[in-house]
Amino acid sequence: MKQSTGRTAGRLTIIGTGPGDPELLTLKALKAVEQAQAIVAPTGRPNGASSALEIIAQAADISGKQVVEVHFSMQKVRLSGSRHRSVEESWSKAADTVLEFTGQGMNVVFPTIGDPAFYSTAYYLLSTVQERQPGLVTEVIPGISSVGSCSSALKAPLALGDDMLCIIPATFGDDRIRQAIETFDSIALMKVHRCLPRVIRILEEYSLLENAVLVEKCALDGERIFQDIRKAAHEDLHYFSTVIVRKQRMGTAGRFIVPGTGDRNGRNVDER
Ligand SMILES: C[S@@+](CC[C@H](N)C(=O)[O-])C[C@H]1O[C@@H](n2cnc3c(N)ncnc32)[C@H](O)[C@@H]1O
Repeated sequence: MKQSTGRTAGRLTIIGTGPGDPELLTLKALKAVEQAQAIVAPTGRPNGASSALEIIAQAADISGKQVVEVHFSMQKVRLSGSRHRSVEESWSKAADTVLEFTGQGMNVVFPTIGDPAFYSTAYYLLSTVQERQPGLVTEVIPGISSVGSCSSALKAPLALGDDMLCIIPATFGDDRIRQAIETFDSIALMKVHRCLPRVIRILEEYSLLENAVLVEKCALDGERIFQDIRKAAHEDLHYFSTVIVRKQRMGTAGRFIVPGTGDRNGRNVDER
């Protein structure tokens, strides 16, 4: 695509970085980073560091690239209805930054934690950019999601056979969480770090506390697994914390930690 200046426009590539271990970045995502001249990376806090950027910086040399970190508002986004002004502003600012680079013929990478498929700001950016410049060449490269990574850390499936799986933020209201528990066999609750006591109360109502495990900073230094999630309620949990609940319909094979194997390092995590 040519710009009015006669210059060929760059492209925007959204990449899933995986959950944190740079070895879990895909070869395709790595190639996109290497071929980009600019990186626009999301931060959750104003002036905070971008976790997604930190992950790719461990896997690729980004020193010669233009790097801009853009703060994305953490206000809740409702797909229907009005949105907080700061939300729209942050999408708009990120889109401006991307289009400035692509307008100069640069290829831009936007890294996002895990897989863009799940609750990622990347798709808000993509639709804003597409609205502004419909002809821009764009690509989305999937990543290993945090829930997939939690499953492998626990050496337990999220869903098998006729299991039904649900992935939602724990920040949803009590009714929606109850609805998920009543409907599905496996439930992954993201964004649980600030609302764990409420989640514990709801799980207690269904006698499902024993079936829940919390994984914090999965695939990152300092990864912790709480088989008794009540113990995690007294901790200052990292934003990268996920609770997995499995109704045990399938005996020991469905358990999170098969006796004798422990966690991914062979340890029984509650003894750490
Ligand atoms: C906005 S969602 C993004 C999910 C991401 N797109 C994915 O595929 O995993 C952020 C939530 O993902 C979960 N998460 C991301 N990285 C994680 C990790 N390394 N360990 C545990 N949970 C993680 C946490 O629940 C966190 O609050």
